[in-house]
Amino acid sequence: MAEVEAKMRGFCGIAVRRLRIAAEIFLAGWLMAGGLGGVGRAQAVLAATPPMGWNSWNHFAERVTEADVRAAADAMVASGMRDAGYVYVNIDDTWEGERDAKGVIHTNQKFPDMKALADYVHSKGMKLGIYSSPGPKTCAGYAGSYGHEEQDALTYAAWGVDYLKYDLCSYREVMDKESGGDRAKANQMMRAAYEKMHQAILKAGRPVVYSFCQYGWDAVWEWGPSAGANLWRTTGDISDNYDRMSVIGFSQAGLGRFAGPGHWNDPDMLEVGNGKMTRDESLTHMSLWAVLAAPLLAGNDLSKMTEETKSILLNQDVIAIDQDGLGKQGDRITAEGPKEVWTKPLKDGIAIALFNRGEDALPMTLRLKDVGLKAGVKAKDVWSGETLTLQPEKTFVVPRHGVVLLRVEK
Ligand code: GLA
Repeated sequence: MAEVEAKMRGFCGIAVRRLRIAAEIFLAGWLMAGGLGGVGRAQAVLAATPPMGWNSWNHFAERVTEADVRAAADAMVASGMRDAGYVYVNIDDTWEGERDAKGVIHTNQKFPDMKALADYVHSKGMKLGIYSSPGPKTCAGYAGSYGHEEQDALTYAAWGVDYLKYDLCSYREVMDKESGGDRAKANQMMRAAYEKMHQAILKAGRPVVYSFCQYGWDAVWEWGPSAGANLWRTTGDISDNYDRMSVIGFSQAGLGRFAGPGHWNDPDMLEVGNGKMTRDESLTHMSLWAVLAAPLLAGNDLSKMTEETKSILLNQDVIAIDQDGLGKQGDRITAEGPKEVWTKPLKDGIAIALFNRGEDALPMTLRLKDVGLKAGVKAKDVWSGETLTLQPEKTFVVPRHGVVLLRVEK
């Protein structure tokens, strides 16, 4: 499915989306009917390529309302984002209300009817994501799932939720208290808490992309997939500035071997369009996330996007690099001070990114032998749209905090 998607996305976004939805409906039904040994395997085939969509946190934070989420869904359709593959509409923290006498979680007044919201998002051909914590409180102080995991998973399934971000937050205090400062025991508790919700999701029976958010603690990439993670945050929070984005993004070197179809490293959501990065910095952000096969979860106000923001989020070549059917995360191949070259193997080629992390424009020379290519290969400069025939050495002048991203067909 992933291969078919990647091949077709370039020229036929709508057909790809329909194909994907039809395939996922078929697959979910088949798996829930016992295909491949039961629902347990459904988690493995979800997120065959890195999840794409939108999340409310980076722009709206605790102010998000149902109206904002509906507006985001509408904008995803109108802007072409849905058809480009951005299909998850994810509500982050602060939707939670009180539990009733039976312990069932309810929404707060900002989200009057979650089922109706899910129906609305589904009617647009997209999927709904939600957020909770294994602790008693979420990071913003709302009700978490502690002691109510199965109940919450059932509630999410009844609402029609397709994606859960599960954020450690106050479970850290539970760990500290109950482990008595024994780090190994605390980590064991953390793993068990994530596995507990995994089992609850499986028992509820609805396929849910399961997103771990525990900031990369305890080398989560080593154990996350076996606790059901389809993606896991590898770091603390991103913020809308080049320094933080680049510290997070460039620190992902070496994690590639832990990623693959159904299970991805997550260096956090996108800040493209939130206003504090220059165009070159945003191109670095988007290029690096694509080379990392990172989830592409836009974090801006989609109803107020500039043409520049749209052109960055909707660049088909960069999306195709991220979503490539081979499912391999890229890595750094050389670093010379602020100049870094990263590559990502693709099903029919290779993506090459020349990053300049320095404070001034710098010449950067691509040597084909360093990337295993022969002279004469054709490359597309993804951001300029230009096609190039590469010679053994080619020098690019890369702007401050900027990037040249090439897609080379083999
Ligand atoms: C943590 C997470 C963020 C966001 C907030 C919400 O900080 O890492 O991505 O979900 O909590 O409170």
